[in-house]
Amino acid sequence: MYLFNSPGLPEFFREALYTWHKGIHRPMPWVGEKDPYRIWVSEIILQQTRVVQGLSYYQRFLAAFPDVQALARASEEAVFKCWEGLGYYSRARNMMRTARVVQEQWGGIFPNTYEGLLSLPGVGPYTAAAIASFAYALPHPVVDGNVERILSRIAGLKTQVDSPEGKKQIRELAGQLFDPAQPAAFNQAMMDFGALQCVPRLPACPACPLAQHCTAFQKGLVSELPQKKPKQPRSNRFFHYFVFVYDTETWVQKREQADIWAGLYEFPLLETESPDLDSRELLRIPLLLDNPPAQQNGLPAPSRIYRQTLSHQVVHARFWIIPLDRPLEGPYVQLLERIPRASLPSLAFPRALRWFLEEKSPSLHLF
Ligand code: ADE
Repeated sequence: MYLFNSPGLPEFFREALYTWHKGIHRPMPWVGEKDPYRIWVSEIILQQTRVVQGLSYYQRFLAAFPDVQALARASEEAVFKCWEGLGYYSRARNMMRTARVVQEQWGGIFPNTYEGLLSLPGVGPYTAAAIASFAYALPHPVVDGNVERILSRIAGLKTQVDSPEGKKQIRELAGQLFDPAQPAAFNQAMMDFGALQCVPRLPACPACPLAQHCTAFQKGLVSELPQKKPKQPRSNRFFHYFVFVYDTETWVQKREQADIWAGLYEFPLLETESPDLDSRELLRIPLLLDNPPAQQNGLPAPSRIYRQTLSHQVVHARFWIIPLDRPLEGPYVQLLERIPRASLPSLAFPRALRWFLEEKSPSLHLF
């Protein structure tokens, strides 16, 4: 058991937290929201991005899918297009699954228990606690990275917060400080406190109302907490994309499920172990042997490298624009979709491909 030693700390903590919260101004459209669908949408988006960027996604998402019925009926294309740029498309796919489960198994209304919420696809303890407390005033503390940081500092917890033992201790601490009389107010105040006051780097501790009760501050450990497991270095991947240009058309494919960017579109792809691919090597790949480029004097130079950093990988993407004087042929073509280039902007692409398309749109005659 990890217990706060000082008696009366929970009461002092809540009081100081609420007083602090009254003094800040952080208007956000989901604050005070009671509709579980809208809370759920905001929380899933905010797991993916910061509040400033999340705002426009939240508004666009709700404009496109104003309720769970609308989302349950939506096509994957429409939802992915709305999600484009946020990354982790499995979250968007889980949202569609959840919308259908709520529609079909819960009569169109989000479950009103923590366990019921937890049973939904993509809803973990954090999201379940957020919806349970904000929509239904149920006594469940949210625990996310912000809360871990606050609690590990207050308690001077040196255990790695992402280890099983650390998670258990954080849950216990959260339970001890939580205010069951005001679940929504407490959770919202903790989120804001983590975002504005108890920030990861260089928090303004002398101005913090909890400084006198913060073990990390008292012991000079603020910059060392929370402790986390060391991160694995990201691996590099080298993608070469072929943008075939025939008349007003091009060819794209939808990525398979088991890798990054599942469900998104891309151009035909060659992945290599190292960054370089010279144009003679390139001309030996089957798709290009079957479809020699229109110009006989080799290929135009590839684009610059577009580098996209994901959680565990860095993708280095390069694009080869290949003019053709007849449509693509050969066995590989069955795996591709032939589309007008003018429709490229309506497909959901990974960010690296969108950067390329935005830079190249004049020469590809996209718009
Ligand atoms: N981050 C995640 N959820 C939040 C919320 N409801 N308010 C502020 N920041 C958040």
